[in-house]
Amino acid sequence: MVDPSAIADPYPLYRELRETAPLFRTQMSGTWVISGFENARNLLRDPRCGSPPDEGSIGPVSIDGSPRRQFDRDNVSMLFLNPPDHTRIRGLVSRAFTPRRVERLRPEVAAMTDGLLDDLGGSGDFVDRVAFPLPANVISELVGVPQTDRDWLRPRIADLSASLEPVSTPEQIDRAEAAALQARAYLSDLIRTRRADPQDDLLTGLIQASDGEDRLSENEVISNVLLIYAAGFETTTQLLSNMVRALVAHPDQLQLLRDDPSLIPAAVEEVLRYDPPVQVDGRYLFEDIEVGEVTIPAGSTTLMLLAAANRDPSVCSDPDRFDITRSDTQLLSFGSGIHFCLGAALARLEGQVVLERLLSRYQSWSISEQTWRPRITIRGVERLIVEFQ
Ligand code: HEM
Repeated sequence: MVDPSAIADPYPLYRELRETAPLFRTQMSGTWVISGFENARNLLRDPRCGSPPDEGSIGPVSIDGSPRRQFDRDNVSMLFLNPPDHTRIRGLVSRAFTPRRVERLRPEVAAMTDGLLDDLGGSGDFVDRVAFPLPANVISELVGVPQTDRDWLRPRIADLSASLEPVSTPEQIDRAEAAALQARAYLSDLIRTRRADPQDDLLTGLIQASDGEDRLSENEVISNVLLIYAAGFETTTQLLSNMVRALVAHPDQLQLLRDDPSLIPAAVEEVLRYDPPVQVDGRYLFEDIEVGEVTIPAGSTTLMLLAAANRDPSVCSDPDRFDITRSDTQLLSFGSGIHFCLGAALARLEGQVVLERLLSRYQSWSISEQTWRPRITIRGVERLIVEFQ
């Protein structure tokens, strides 16, 4: 899966796995790999699965085989927690991350998109100029990070996201750790400012979130703000890039959208199904679990191939066809169960706004060059040279 040709197009490999080995154990790491929709969804929802109990197993394995770095449990976000800790923190964070707060961003997202498209001027690198800065600025707006600090914070968050990969280089891991320290110190200062002068933003909401006597500690606020950045930034970058790539590759579907812009939400859904930004999701088994005729033993790790599951013909007819008129789409692109993506509504909103702005501005879209990032959890392009007219 880490081979450059598989990163550029993993779908033939996913199909082969689904058809010939929908459940198999890798010889290298002993991880169980699952590619069918039903098995992947069931495991994601199964309370007998979760994050490994030992913090030594969180974070990427170094590609040079050096021992895995220890992550401090106190600095771990909800993504790596199990109930009851996960339930408590997710409950408090969801209280501040309200649909109202997300929907209120719509005009702001449209204004930011227009500003970035003006700067792009019709041609250039869509990732660097639009798809990368937009989600980071949107999350900064949501969290309440001042405009003047955003350019400083953005590259640190990008470095941090390497910690979500199953495998990274030692240099990437060093950079992720240094970035985490700097970003934590920055947020600690910002929390002090917000305590003294509360604002109508997510950071103030998290500081104030309480359930009776229960509150988030400062460490919990910081870890979960960093998660919201790390989980919400490059994932959305890739949604926006995948959207442009898929529509340029399928001009008939682009024409359908021009004829009927009410298809915009369905088109974003189809991009999420057809080419999801997060391709894999992992779980640790606390107990033996039967998957079909196989028993996966307690203590095993599993890797769900979300992108393969989305194209399982048992839940999607003609799954390799990109078709924005589908209406009954089932997808695992945002996960499933208790860790279901908290930012799904925001990601969809950004996809819809960018698509609407691109359609209203440009008649002709083309791509002259694209380069892939060497990443498999958040897969996508690091460079996408476009020409919009
Ligand atoms: C297209 C964009 C996005 C994709 C594909 C995506 C995908 C995912 C997936 C697959 C998970 C589940 C992880 C697991 O099961 O272990 C997840 C969790 C999460 N996502 Fe997203 N995400 C996106 C955008 C966002 C945004 C914009 C935010 C916030 C601003 C966000 C915040 C989160 C959080 C906080 C979690 C952890 C929830 C928990 O552990 O309970 N995501 N996301």
